[in-house]
Amino acid sequence: MEKKRETFSNRLGFILVSAGCAIGLGNVWRFPYITGKYGGGAFVLLYLFFLVILGIPVMTAEFAVGRASRRSTAMSFERLEPEGTKWHVYKWFAMAGNYLLMMYYTTICGWLILFFVKMLRGDFTGMSPNQIAAAFTQVTQNPWLCVGFMVLVVVLGFAICAGGLQGGVERIVKVMMTALIVLMIVLAVNSVRLPGASKGLRFYLTPNFHHMVQYGIGRTIFAAMGQAFFTLSIGIGAMAIFGSYIGKEKRLLGESVTISALDTLVAILAGLIIFPACFAYGVTPTAGPSLIFITLPNVFNHMPHGQIWGALFFVFMTFAALSTVLAVFQNIVSYATDLTSVSVKKACLINGAVVILLSLPCALGFSVLSGVHPMGVGTTILDFEDFILSNNLMPIGSMIYLLFCVTKSGWGYDGFIHEANEGEGLRMPEGGVSKIYLTYVLPFVVFCVFLGGYLIH
Ligand code: ALA
Repeated sequence: MEKKRETFSNRLGFILVSAGCAIGLGNVWRFPYITGKYGGGAFVLLYLFFLVILGIPVMTAEFAVGRASRRSTAMSFERLEPEGTKWHVYKWFAMAGNYLLMMYYTTICGWLILFFVKMLRGDFTGMSPNQIAAAFTQVTQNPWLCVGFMVLVVVLGFAICAGGLQGGVERIVKVMMTALIVLMIVLAVNSVRLPGASKGLRFYLTPNFHHMVQYGIGRTIFAAMGQAFFTLSIGIGAMAIFGSYIGKEKRLLGESVTISALDTLVAILAGLIIFPACFAYGVTPTAGPSLIFITLPNVFNHMPHGQIWGALFFVFMTFAALSTVLAVFQNIVSYATDLTSVSVKKACLINGAVVILLSLPCALGFSVLSGVHPMGVGTTILDFEDFILSNNLMPIGSMIYLLFCVTKSGWGYDGFIHEANEGEGLRMPEGGVSKIYLTYVLPFVVFCVFLGGYLIH
């Protein structure tokens, strides 16, 4: 007999958990620093363009596969593919993608919690920028701290998942997402009211094509496309699962638009928090990945009541990252329960141990394993894991989901469109132009992102 599948308690649960999966370090960390690097507003425009033409259709395809199969990626292709075809082989890569994302996400999430504690204790007060940089290096080079906080994140995450979909993940993510939006609005209002903030706003919101040319148009375009994939967590079935927990009341394109809009709102707000504050205190926002761990504690040092604002900032960062961790852990647990007869609690226990082990290389990548440079001098294990996921699995997986949905050898266009358009809301266009776009243009564009990722590295 088939096991009864869990469902979300209501539509808000679906929207917020899916948005929680999308909203993460990609929005609050990666988006601001690459926007800073590639020219502020001009980059934002490009990114929005790719989000609409590329991200939303792929997300709709994932939701459709999840809803029609009522299974996670571990079983969904088997359920929908024509007999004798091999689409289901991709499930191993998709599952690997989810584990891979967690293999470095848990370490960064641990750093965020640690920085929250440090901010609260006033550890950075009075430090010079160089001292703050040294403090960050000390954290990353301390294997016990990195592993300890990574383990804390994993244990906390699977303990919540063990409460089930509605009682665990949905309940907690709803609270975290609501708190996140409120916190961000408070922080953004504080930031844009700082004296001198307008320079930051101009940098962020006025398109600067000069910067783009300086870094190379091609590079900027690929960065914007890559960001669209990463921020929506598409291509590895991380989103598909949530389609398997909903009914047929709403059309899936409309749901994807809502979730992408929430995701974008958070990314834009993150910029509104970071850029005005940086410019108000004469700090350059082009520091790259160290922007939030080095530049911002320095900014908070100059701000009245900076210790409190800084602590609130790291709470919001932690919530964003943890919501993704919880959503992806839910996915990981569902593989076990879809593939075997194991209980949710046992799946959490086993996967907790597996994810801790898999996360060790990244957590130790700056200390014990700092001599390992998988992609050449200066690169870390974290860079390597991110490269395999963001530059390979996500674009290739997005292409596979698209082709599966539109070709006759896969699920097929009719099945896909029928599923996507069941219910009320925004309808996926069905006509010839849309079909040509989804079948030929989009997979080609996605393939170019994949190739481009290699060329610019
Ligand atoms: N979508 C997730 C993020 O933005 C992976 O961090």
